[in-house]
Amino acid sequence: MPNWLRVAAVTDLADGAALECVAGDRIVALFNVSGEIHALDGVCPHQGGPLGKGQLTGGIVTCPWHGWQFDVRTGQHQLSPSICQPSLAVKIAGDDILVALE
Ligand code: FES
Repeated sequence: MPNWLRVAAVTDLADGAALECVAGDRIVALFNVSGEIHALDGVCPHQGGPLGKGQLTGGIVTCPWHGWQFDVRTGQHQLSPSICQPSLAVKIAGDDILVALE
């Protein structure tokens, strides 16, 4: 049963923006791709960089530390098929963005 936690307001995340936030004991990266909100584990699997502070371009986030790129809709690394960043389910309730923690 997922535990839904509020992490931000919809108004905090403009179209094309990324946002780092905390959900329980996890760092989560939120992304707004053309009005669709997506959430990934916010800790880059390379060396722990903050994906929520990365540059978002057309659904692809670039980690600010060394440039690894992920599709924020799937978590898929853009060069290595074996690397997929965990994603979190998202739901919107009014102006609140909630993510599911298992
Ligand atoms: S920590 Fe993200 S690319 Fe190195």
